[in-house]
Amino acid sequence: MEGKRILVVDDDKRIVELLRDFLQKQGAEVITAGCASEAISAMEQMDVDVLLTDLVLPDLDGLQLLEKLRDLPVAPVAVVFTGHGSISSAVQAMKLGALDYITKPFHLEEIRIVLEKALGFRQLKRENIQLKQQLRDKYRFENLLGHSEGMQAVQRMVEKVADTDSTVLIIGESGTGKELVARALHYNSRRRERPMVVVNCSAIPQELLESELFGHEQGAFTGAVRTRIGKFESAHGGTVFLDEIGDMSPHLQAKLLRVLQEHEIERLGGNRPIKVDVRVIAATHRNLEEAMKEGKFREDLYYRLNVIPIRIPPLRERLSDIPILVNHFLEKFNHSRGKRLRGFTPRAMDALMRYHWPGNVRELEHLVERMVVLQGEGFVDLEDLPSPYSDLSPKVEGRQMKLPPEGVDLPELMREMERSLVLQALERSQGVKSKAAELLGIHRTTLVEKMRRLGLLSTGPSRAASSQGRG
Ligand SMILES: Nc1ncnc2c1ncn2[C@@H]1O[C@H](COP(=O)(O)OP(=O)(O)OP(=O)(O)O)[C@@H](O)[C@H]1O
Ligand SMILES: [Mg+2]
Repeated sequence: MEGKRILVVDDDKRIVELLRDFLQKQGAEVITAGCASEAISAMEQMDVDVLLTDLVLPDLDGLQLLEKLRDLPVAPVAVVFTGHGSISSAVQAMKLGALDYITKPFHLEEIRIVLEKALGFRQLKRENIQLKQQLRDKYRFENLLGHSEGMQAVQRMVEKVADTDSTVLIIGESGTGKELVARALHYNSRRRERPMVVVNCSAIPQELLESELFGHEQGAFTGAVRTRIGKFESAHGGTVFLDEIGDMSPHLQAKLLRVLQEHEIERLGGNRPIKVDVRVIAATHRNLEEAMKEGKFREDLYYRLNVIPIRIPPLRERLSDIPILVNHFLEKFNHSRGKRLRGFTPRAMDALMRYHWPGNVRELEHLVERMVVLQGEGFVDLEDLPSPYSDLSPKVEGRQMKLPPEGVDLPELMREMERSLVLQALERSQGVKSKAAELLGIHRTTLVEKMRRLGLLSTGPSRAASSQGRG
């Protein structure tokens, strides 16, 4: 009890003094009050760990005092005294949030045990509040970094739909930040205090996925020795994030559709529907429209999920986001690795901004981590970058290029120039190919052909998948 603050409330002076002496010997800081109003004003002035109160007080009744605790920002854990034969009021007190009760007359040893338990609980409560706060900070909207048009559109959309119950479909190549967007949606919704349960539909064999999602009754199949609740049930009140939904089997797709429509699930081997209140967020790196045409994805489910599509552009379509992301990762890894890498030279940064990032933000994050670990201080220059990042030199400087003394590799230089201009055009047109082609003065099909040759065509979802029909 060392250093803990305990508030003892009783109008019986002898009891108050007895407890004060005892608890002080245990190292606690003891505050006493003879009535409820004194107790309340004490708790308003300072942070109290445990409130130990009699239920019969001269002014308010102890139960009313417990009700008042709810208005405090950080309420203490409450323990109440009851006289013999008044168990019903003890039960009432527990309903109002008291942790435990002690019947009078009591042994001091009893007090010690109950208080130890209360202080342990208080500690957990504090840690829980802190963790929740940290999570909330971590997934604030502002943590979706990026000033590019494409990323700003994503941020606006996240902000607009976070606090609704609408189903959201997040579409983006691998490593673009789909999970980060899903978390931002959850932690900025009124469901934030409830769980966000993540299910990766491609990582779990489809036979197991069904019981993973919906749970099963005892004996539902060989090996189902006891009843198990599924992810939908455990996310009740919160959010289910179905990652890689494009990999879900048609059989499960049908079941999921039912859940979305009826808001109820059925455990495997069960025969009664169970109501669940969950918001569904799904993500995919696949082109679901294509999968639909191939008969691999149900059309009805697609339209049910696609109520609000959020398409995260690949990093190569928002190269201007690179410096801010690099700085963010630099800070993060310097901190976690105990290093002091100061940054990237303009030449190195320039090379990063001309690379096409097939692994998107995750690839960039790994590169920065690698440089922090390998170099650890000073600045990263072009020569320090590993291949293929360092291969993108020399910089093509506009139209007045000077032939260097050692000569150039003209075909390579032309390819670089082409690549750089194509990437810039794609960014400026936010990935809309017809616009980018116009900026480059070429036909759209020529642009697509060039992109294919330069390795700039994604295998992921096309523009059409965003249902905004651009491009
Ligand atoms: N806009 C962003 N701002 C800050 N960090 C980002 C951003 N986008 C992605 N990241 C970071 O990049 C990494 C990859 O993001 P995330 O796991 O959300 O991608 P993903 O699309 O789910 O990838 P995958 O398809 O491979 O599962 C994470 O560490 C994430 O925090
Ligand atoms: Mg992911």
